[in-house]
Amino acid sequence: MDHKRDIFSSRRAAIFAMAGSAIGLGNIWRFPYMVGEHGGAAFILVYLFATVFLSLPIFLSESIIGRRTHLGPYGAMAKLAPGTPWKHVGLLTICSAMIIISFYSVVGGWSVDYLFKAIRLEFLPERSEQVSSMFGSMISNTWLPILCHTAFLGLTAVIVVLGVRKGIERFSKISMPVLFVLIVAIMCYSLSLPGAGEGVAYLVKPDFSRLDASAVASAMGQSFFSLSLGVGTILTYSSHIRKSENLITSGLGTSLFDLLFAILAGFAVMPAVFAAGIEPGAGPGLIFETLPYIFSSMGAQMPVLSSVIAILFFLTILIAALTSSISMLETGVTYLVEEKGLRRRTAVIILFGVTWALGCLCSLSFGPLSGVKLFGKTIFEFCDSLTSDFLMTLGGLLFTLFVGWKMSRADVRDELTSGGLYPANAKIFKFTYFLIRYVAPVVIGVVFVTNLLM
Ligand code: TRP
Repeated sequence: MDHKRDIFSSRRAAIFAMAGSAIGLGNIWRFPYMVGEHGGAAFILVYLFATVFLSLPIFLSESIIGRRTHLGPYGAMAKLAPGTPWKHVGLLTICSAMIIISFYSVVGGWSVDYLFKAIRLEFLPERSEQVSSMFGSMISNTWLPILCHTAFLGLTAVIVVLGVRKGIERFSKISMPVLFVLIVAIMCYSLSLPGAGEGVAYLVKPDFSRLDASAVASAMGQSFFSLSLGVGTILTYSSHIRKSENLITSGLGTSLFDLLFAILAGFAVMPAVFAAGIEPGAGPGLIFETLPYIFSSMGAQMPVLSSVIAILFFLTILIAALTSSISMLETGVTYLVEEKGLRRRTAVIILFGVTWALGCLCSLSFGPLSGVKLFGKTIFEFCDSLTSDFLMTLGGLLFTLFVGWKMSRADVRDELTSGGLYPANAKIFKFTYFLIRYVAPVVIGVVFVTNLLM
């Protein structure tokens, strides 16, 4: 294996790339809704707890394994636990990432289509009535969504071919600040709409009576999903972090950016939803039906501004989705390059082919293949729930078990303090190790089994 491995040029570059992976559709279409549904600020508190006590231990476990070996999930586990089946765990997580990118890029494709719709000024006031139904007819179409999925996956592939430093790092360095500027601009517009206050209240009013078991489970699931955990992506990115970097800082930095973006997205989306007098929902309907409807109905008073905001909004979604999809593809590419000795370009082409084909099936499952059901779900729903409800949790559980029980305590300590470079990390080592070894696996294990039985 004579490949040369890139290293992120700075701590900031590593955090931007990992934040790019974390910030995605989950922040825009799920977080705002969940917050409102489950008790506003009260939910955010639980979310914070879940992030610190469960997600961060998984995040750190992935970082430790990746940075220790400077290898992807398969190679890292094979090296740290030679002759054991652990490497297959690595391979399983890589497969999960490949399934996620297949359906994720279908949605990425929709955002390409909607960006063009916004540019072509299709969300005009006289069309308000048709705007919401546009979505259903677009996704059930055979060719257009496949074309857009191809374009989105193609863009992803181009960035990944360029490599970690020239492609991923460079793209994230530009796109992260741009994303924050865009979401703040949209938020200002949204907050200025008449009736926006109700949307703000929906997000912030703490209602502890709504914090039931399902709220807690949702907070955990959302936190895992949002931080891209359990599929070896954070592991792969961490394998490009310098030995002298502080892993705890990059974990905390990434989580903070992710949370901040989710909250900004909440204030960008919900006030507009309430201003238009619509019931908030989650998922694709929220961003592809509700918001275009809002842009078009607002267009009556402010045609130019609302067209500009519509374009910016779909651009934001597209960029956010791209920075996530490149991290998924990179996870698979790392495996083929490192373990199979393929050239980067060849690896990208092969994985493009595989995920494109699975993505096409997911895309068609809204139209011609809508009758094909696996366990009562369409192909798209099946891939989504297989990964979000099952494989991501399993992956997270196995990563914490590996670091907590398979690796030696001395190695974990060495990695977490970067060879003793960070004395402050040594002080909180006991606590962190306790979270990785006991708290996280037990709680995640319970969640996993519950999901399995329900
Ligand atoms: N975190 C991404 C988002 O919020 C989605 C995601 C889930 C993801 N799992 C991932 C991204 C794995 C990259 C890798 O939209």
